[in-house]
Amino acid sequence: MDQIIVTGNGELSGEIPIAGAKNACLTLMPATLLSDEPLTLTNAPRLSDIKTMTELLSSLGAEVTSLQDGQVLAMSSHDINNHVADYDIVRKMRASNLVLGPMLARLGHAVVSLPGGCAIGARPMDLHIHGLEAMGAEIELKDGYLHAKAPGGLKGATIEFSFASVGATENVLMAATLAKGTTVLKNAAREPEIVDLATCLRSMGAQIEGDGTSTITIQGVDRLHGATHPVVTDRIELGTYMLAPAIAGGEVECLGGKLSLVQSFVDKLEQAGVEVTETERGLKVARRNGRIKAVDVTTEPFPGFPTDLQAQMMALLCTADGTSVLEEKIFENRFMHAPELTRMGASIDVQGGTATVHGVDQLKGAPVMATDLRASVSLILAGLAAEGETMVSRVYHLDRGYEHVVRKLEGVGAKIERIKGS
Ligand code: UD1
Repeated sequence: MDQIIVTGNGELSGEIPIAGAKNACLTLMPATLLSDEPLTLTNAPRLSDIKTMTELLSSLGAEVTSLQDGQVLAMSSHDINNHVADYDIVRKMRASNLVLGPMLARLGHAVVSLPGGCAIGARPMDLHIHGLEAMGAEIELKDGYLHAKAPGGLKGATIEFSFASVGATENVLMAATLAKGTTVLKNAAREPEIVDLATCLRSMGAQIEGDGTSTITIQGVDRLHGATHPVVTDRIELGTYMLAPAIAGGEVECLGGKLSLVQSFVDKLEQAGVEVTETERGLKVARRNGRIKAVDVTTEPFPGFPTDLQAQMMALLCTADGTSVLEEKIFENRFMHAPELTRMGASIDVQGGTATVHGVDQLKGAPVMATDLRASVSLILAGLAAEGETMVSRVYHLDRGYEHVVRKLEGVGAKIERIKGS
């Protein structure tokens, strides 16, 4: 298995281009199943999760062609000839469950394996199921598979989510575009990826209002047509690379970044003493002198601080002046990076969903293991400022969500290399 070796190399400077959002692309791709006309996505990220979704859609009969080195995905779901999303593909990635709503809406039936994905918590699907059932679907769990059917077609309904789940909002939103009548989603997720999905669906002819707020109203239509849609900027990749100069010092401009995508995160960076400026090309981040100040962080649904940046923020706070408290409110088991950061000299106490980070003067390089997608990149960030060599193993987690990590960080002066495993 490949490893990444990072050696603390002082301040960073230059530019990092930010890719299209993995999480947006993973919900935009299944939207192809809603129409028999082509859907083309531009600004797609080059990631193994996108390959997994391509494999899944292809297994259902969709055609997915990757063009321009993977940045354009041309999809057609003219002939959907299989309605079973198999465990062997779904177990690799939880977002595979996003084919359920579109297949049910288009075909009237779907069989979808319960998903796998990052081992960061239980991550059930009850909210997806309740939402689709409220629209008239009948769903049963048999042998690890959800068997869903809507014999009389899906019907509009008012659905109030008990928690603003991103995936459940996306699945039900897609299904509702082809349902009969009006669907109202209350306590819907407000993430930029939901707005991006709604924008794409509107360009396919869907009637949707209120995305980006907690109440989304969808007026069902008979059919959706083809469209071309650019994937929104990846706010998690953006936040991750904004942390590189914050941790190592220096000044880096993240191209394509926008404050509106990461405001709550930027608030915390500024409290920690990092300078952030919006430019015409993106977000410029500078850490000039002095130690980072300790800050407390609580993860919340958007527009709150994103859980997907908690591990990376922890890497920054490991060397802050003082004690920071990080509360994880979205996933119950998302501190697996803490023991690895401790191997690098960090001082972190984890009690349930709370991590208390006592800032130390300096981290030291060590062999560490990536345990999930965001944890893996937090170890690389920590390595940028550590003394000596940090060797990160199990980097396949990283490949799920970050394209060209080595190239992007090398480009701003980091000392980083990937060693091919056997
Ligand atoms: C999405 C993102 C993921 C991010 C997360 C929260 C994608 C592909 N993934 O994941 O990177 O960390 O949003 O911002 O977009 N829950 C239930 N029942 C359900 C669904 C969810 O209890 O039916 C719980 C989950 O266990 C979790 C919480 O709700 O504790 C958040 O999950 P959700 O918002 O659904 O996240 P995902 O869509 O899985």
